[in-house]
Amino acid sequence: MAKISTNISEAQALLEKGELVAIPTETVYGLAANALNTEAVASIFEAKGRPHFDPLIVHLHDKSQLDVLCQKIPDVFYRLHETFSPGPITYILKKREIIPDLVTSGNDTVGIRFPNHPLTRELLFESGLPLAAPSANPFGYVSPTTAQHVENQLGKRIPYILDGGPCSVGIESTIIDLSSDKLKILRLGGLALEEIEEITGKIEVTTHSSSNPQAPGMLSSHYSPGKKLMIGNIDELLKTHSGKSTAIISLSKTFEGIPIENQKVLSPSGDLKLAAANLFKVLRELDRENIDVILAELMPNIGLGPAINDRLKRAAH
Ligand code: TXA
Ligand code: MG
Repeated sequence: MAKISTNISEAQALLEKGELVAIPTETVYGLAANALNTEAVASIFEAKGRPHFDPLIVHLHDKSQLDVLCQKIPDVFYRLHETFSPGPITYILKKREIIPDLVTSGNDTVGIRFPNHPLTRELLFESGLPLAAPSANPFGYVSPTTAQHVENQLGKRIPYILDGGPCSVGIESTIIDLSSDKLKILRLGGLALEEIEEITGKIEVTTHSSSNPQAPGMLSSHYSPGKKLMIGNIDELLKTHSGKSTAIISLSKTFEGIPIENQKVLSPSGDLKLAAANLFKVLRELDRENIDVILAELMPNIGLGPAINDRLKRAAH
């Protein structure tokens, strides 16, 4: 069992000793280590069972720390940073030597994020450390959005979980590649594409797959729960799955003939931000239920809809 608490100095002391601490962010919980301590970073991969070809995001308090870690930072970074950071966006930038290769899986770029959670911001400020942190789940499983989610799966492997309550955004950050002249979105996430495009103009979204070396971690099965999940029109799916014990994930509708406890409505008012905040919790709940198949509908193609759909499709893989 990990200690679950809110003591910043205790978390800081562990990180300074090269130990792992799970940290709350507005997107999902991260599994953090001092990014400049190679041994500590190695133990992140070990605790998660994560392959070394999947690079980590480095979390910072302030952009004044950036010049030491990165180079050739383009102007567009500063425009995006001013509007969206701290917040659910990760910037891929050219790295400097000081960042261990293990953090970036040998890439000459590094993911940088300024998370927006008061506890973690205080920890970053007080310690002054750059924190390498992937989502705090075993490799291939849904990301955790509460301290208890982290405890359930990694509690035996880490000493401390900083408890910041449930994550307000609930899905991982949007990743934007600023390392070449052509801007690219590598992962849809907690910041809507439309908002980014207001600053950058139209931007290419490269969909991730196991064959895409640009985002080696974005394997298609990356968010899978243990249960079988089917996506489509729920009324149609219900016809073909009659007789099975089914559960449903919908944006706002409920359906007849399915026990109400097996119907997960992500947001009764159809609010996609709320739907995103509920998604991973719902997938975890259904994973524990005694059901054969989860039927899910796709969200509308606006705001956080595409990012939620991306996670549902990966879970269905
Ligand atoms: O919201 C988030 O981003 C959360 C919180 C904890 O900050 N973190 C997170 O980390 O989702 P992780 O490791 O589960 O996913 C980060 C993904 C990796 O799978 C990898 O594909 C991509 O970011 N990534 C990291 N560094 C990269 C790089 N240099 N080039 C391309 N992709 C990179
Ligand atoms: Mg992850």
